[in-house]
Amino acid sequence: MQLLSRWQWTGLAGLIVIALITLFQYRSPIARDPLAVSPVSLDFNATEAVEESTITLDSTKKSPGVSKFHLLIPSTGSNHQLCRTLASATILGYPVPVFNGWKKEGDLDAAKTHLAKVRNVMLYLETLPPSSDDDLVLMVDGLDVTFQIPPDVLIQRYFAINRAANAKIATRFGEDYIKSLPPDDAPRQTILFGPEKVCYPTDWARVGCWANPHDIGIPIGAFGPDDGQFSHNLPRWLNSGTIMGPVGDMRRLFAATLDRIKDFYDSTQEFSDSDQKYMSDVWGVQEYYRSMKELEPFFHGDIDPNRVVPTGGPEKVIPPYIRDQRAELHVGVDYRSGIFQTNAGFEHVVEFLTYNETGATNSTSAAWVTQNISESPNFKPFKISLPSNLANSISSLLKSISHAVDAIPSVTELRLGTNIVTQNIYGMYHWTGSKDDMDTLWGHMWFYPYVRPLFQSAIAALKVDQAIGVADGRTWVPAHKLPTNSTEIEGIRAAGAWADIDGGWLGWEEICGNYEVEVFGP
Ligand SMILES: *[C@@H]1O[C@H](CO)[C@@H](O)[C@H](O)[C@H]1NC(C)=O
Ligand SMILES: *[C@@H]1O[C@H](CO)[C@@H](O)[C@H](O)[C@H]1NC(C)=O
Ligand SMILES: *[C@@H]1O[C@H](CO)[C@@H](O)[C@H](O)[C@H]1NC(C)=O
Ligand SMILES: *[C@@H]1O[C@H](CO)[C@@H](O)[C@H](O)[C@H]1NC(C)=O
Ligand SMILES: *[C@@H]1O[C@H](CO)[C@@H](O)[C@H](O)[C@H]1NC(C)=O
Repeated sequence: MQLLSRWQWTGLAGLIVIALITLFQYRSPIARDPLAVSPVSLDFNATEAVEESTITLDSTKKSPGVSKFHLLIPSTGSNHQLCRTLASATILGYPVPVFNGWKKEGDLDAAKTHLAKVRNVMLYLETLPPSSDDDLVLMVDGLDVTFQIPPDVLIQRYFAINRAANAKIATRFGEDYIKSLPPDDAPRQTILFGPEKVCYPTDWARVGCWANPHDIGIPIGAFGPDDGQFSHNLPRWLNSGTIMGPVGDMRRLFAATLDRIKDFYDSTQEFSDSDQKYMSDVWGVQEYYRSMKELEPFFHGDIDPNRVVPTGGPEKVIPPYIRDQRAELHVGVDYRSGIFQTNAGFEHVVEFLTYNETGATNSTSAAWVTQNISESPNFKPFKISLPSNLANSISSLLKSISHAVDAIPSVTELRLGTNIVTQNIYGMYHWTGSKDDMDTLWGHMWFYPYVRPLFQSAIAALKVDQAIGVADGRTWVPAHKLPTNSTEIEGIRAAGAWADIDGGWLGWEEICGNYEVEVFGP
């Protein structure tokens, strides 16, 4: 009930704000005990929104068939890794990002608590009106993510992954049951998290550790023999450093996470500041409720949860189950790394492959895989195909720099980071676990020799408001543009990011002027 009234309030506040202005700003965070936890939505007062926001965001105009793509990068300050994240996103054609929590203080300072990330992203989501609910948000950690594929293909994959997951969900629950519920309550997948090979923070009492699905569509043994070795595990858990989903559902997810923090935060506990802990538990409760719901038609009274969810050790703590309560948040995990490739436990299955062989048809390219990851007797090398939408998208990026580069390579000459178990050329690499090889990776990226010309060409595209592409029958455009005066600025110096919604424009020089060698090379 509390959740419902909050959302009614938010909806109402949203309408009032739209009536008044199109651009928002939230109250400056007041200095507070960094560990004091209160739901961030209480800090947001729509009636105090100021008329002049610094961000370029026209959220009321909505053309039919056009949706916006928001790139959020929580980051408190600059370093060379953030500049590589920004550079890889910019040159591939991602929207101008928003840096959430930039130089914020107190409980909005992510350097003090990881929970600041949840609060800062929620502040952003709350400024968006209900007409933005079907926009897509991609949130990635700022300091350890490198983008590999362009956003048009990424968005197409996002829809393909969820379509496949929703077909499985429909088989499990039945179309009739799903249609009988309000869309928000019906089991459905719209939000994707990165995959993780262990439940972290590890605590087998936590619902996020034991209630998650066992059948993830990848057989045990695919990553190596089932011998308890970490890297051989299936990626059955979630990583909260990368998330993608529609604005409306993301808002509900972040609100549920803040509610969980409010109810469960205990500063004396280890990992009490881990956003992943709360987000995975919110997901765990969703999965626990899904498991119980699935059985209701068979047990017409109380259901013994131990019988229903026999997994998890004796230490597992089972949450209360209330039949009419809503726990569905449309959360899922990108188990196959079509979008998010995490590092920890995946090192042995990520290879940089050249797609220079003939694929299934004469017009497709493929790469050979010769590693016997599954340790199968009589292992036979196999081919992975280069998806044609990816080949086309990368080729057109390369074509855009043909005037500046003597000989542009063919896409079949590039080395593309590939998960050789799930056979995906992943969207981005996220350095979870050891960061030892992080600096080396940059030089291996397919675009590294062309960073500068690609950058110039991407900035030119941003200046003329080029659309990102088409997916789900909609044309996708960047949610945020360069500042209007950027037309007067030449080349890469016109690039940059918006600091939250009130912190103004951060130009490339200001953020990354000191790190150009790390981005462009010597
Ligand atoms: C929001 O701000 C206005 C103007 O400062 C004030 O009158 C109102 O009480 C505030 N509302 C909340 C919920 O804090
Ligand atoms: C494909 O590229 C790999 C790696 O560069 C190379 O070893 C191989 O000879 C190439 N194959 C063809 C058919 O060109
Ligand atoms: C592929 O190319 C070869 C040689 O050019 C040709 O003989 C064959 O018919 C082609 N196959 C298809 C499916 O087009
Ligand atoms: C694959 O690994 C298994 C287990 O180590 C081994 O028995 C088999 O010979 C390997 N096959 C090849 C072709 O490498
Ligand atoms: C351009 O616009 C941005 C954002 O509005 C502002 O921060 C910056 O100072 C402006 N630059 C110039 C040269 O006017």
